[in-house]
Amino acid sequence: MAFRMSRFVPGPARFVPRPSRLTPRRLLFITSAGVLFWFLFFSLTPITSPLPPYTGPHEVGILDVETEVQKRTIHDAILKATGEKAFQLDTLAITLYYPSSLPLASPSQRPWARPWLPQPVSLIGEGYARLAGVSKLSSVFTFGLWLLGSSTVIPGVVDAPILSSAEQILGEDGSGAGEFGKIMSAAEQEHKELKRGDGLGSLPCVVFTHGMAGMSQSYAHYLGSIASHGYVVAAVEHRDGSGPGTIVHHPDGTERKVWHMKLKDLEADPPMTDLDLKAAQLNFREAEISETIKLFAQLNAGDAPVVNLKPDSPRNALPGFKNRLNLSAVTVGGHSYGATGAMQALKSAGSKTMPINGGIALDPGKGSGPLNKDIDVPILVMQSGEWTEKQTAFYDEGWHFEAVKNIIDNVKEGWFMTLLGTAHPSCTDAPLIVPWIMKMVTGTTLSSKVALKEYIDASVAFLEYLRTGEKKGVLESGVTNAGGPFTHDKPHGKVQGPDGADWEVHTVPKSE
Ligand SMILES: *[C@@H]1O[C@H](CO)[C@@H](O)[C@H](O)[C@H]1NC(C)=O
Repeated sequence: MAFRMSRFVPGPARFVPRPSRLTPRRLLFITSAGVLFWFLFFSLTPITSPLPPYTGPHEVGILDVETEVQKRTIHDAILKATGEKAFQLDTLAITLYYPSSLPLASPSQRPWARPWLPQPVSLIGEGYARLAGVSKLSSVFTFGLWLLGSSTVIPGVVDAPILSSAEQILGEDGSGAGEFGKIMSAAEQEHKELKRGDGLGSLPCVVFTHGMAGMSQSYAHYLGSIASHGYVVAAVEHRDGSGPGTIVHHPDGTERKVWHMKLKDLEADPPMTDLDLKAAQLNFREAEISETIKLFAQLNAGDAPVVNLKPDSPRNALPGFKNRLNLSAVTVGGHSYGATGAMQALKSAGSKTMPINGGIALDPGKGSGPLNKDIDVPILVMQSGEWTEKQTAFYDEGWHFEAVKNIIDNVKEGWFMTLLGTAHPSCTDAPLIVPWIMKMVTGTTLSSKVALKEYIDASVAFLEYLRTGEKKGVLESGVTNAGGPFTHDKPHGKVQGPDGADWEVHTVPKSE
């Protein structure tokens, strides 16, 4: 230390270290000290953790897909910086999570499929820097993302074959799936099933829409787990300017980057208000949800091969989706801004463009515009403890909690509940990857793994309810605390979820 200090001390020139101080030996010393420091730092403080295995009985296949759609402009606004249309829909990009026919590996041998951070990382780093209003710091953001996210991978097998109908039926029998013996007998049974050809054992589907500043990869554990229970899940990578950054790949090989958009980046006549921007983004999302359902139909029909425009993304699994999707069982889900979008899509549920049988809304937005009230299909609203406890005024509808409760009280079949001890990001991967940082920042008291397990179990129970009409887990409970955060005169009634966490149930479907 004294040696290094000496260069700041005025004195005879011979005390000033010369530029040649960075000799190879010294460089080696500095780097090995640095490596040692980070090694100790990471081994002593587990800053990042790997994503846990999925919770269901099936192995999970993963595939990024981008396809051309019928081009349309959702709103006429243009980007001041480039003069390009801001709300131009050219392609649809999704991440598919689906149950796979590969035998379930033991947790230690689970395949670690693909990087959790979308590539290139610098695009996402620059996107978040722009989002934070400090574009100049994009390399700092990229480094931060790389530091915390680069070691994380999404478990699952890229482009794995989709679960065969025989295995699916075996799984439904309660005998579980994944053991080799069963797979072999399943393969025999499959021949019989295929001959019957009555579409038996087609898989229900889920479309999921991410939150503000989120990405399709931000919910890998939640969505992959739902897939591991036998659902084909498509997580949309929205191009509505709400994410950090995404690249549109045109069929002619050209690209267009879509960055996060703020009101001041846009030019429109008449000028847009904040609510206009939200409305344009939500309409954009609705169009992408509708295109995702169209893609499900195209995959299921299997007569026109789906061209995957995502660079370096394989597509061998896609023909296997032929006749495997149940298009009468498509459910839409979303988090935050995405929950507002999912609820908006429910307005046209049952129509030709939106054949949706129900919706899951996690922490519906507090500032993403008023929520759609016109809902005719079953809906499950799950809020984090933070979302329910910290109340804010919601447009001209009173408190946010009251506005949500009012909607769910008046739909035909709706659940509204809160998972205690959680915060707004608790359903994302962030608290699994950086548990200590997230706990410090958000003040959660429930373990992040348990929180996710509860969200997954309740979601799967709801999806099963849509198919069978049978209520399980927390869905079986009656109302425990109708008033939510406004119950002051008595203790808040709770019910324990299947993983031991506490829920407050605010609304359940009216019994006939
Ligand atoms: C498709 O889903 C609907 C609605 O959940 C269900 O009634 C039907 O039995 C399913 N069909 C197949 C072939 O699984």
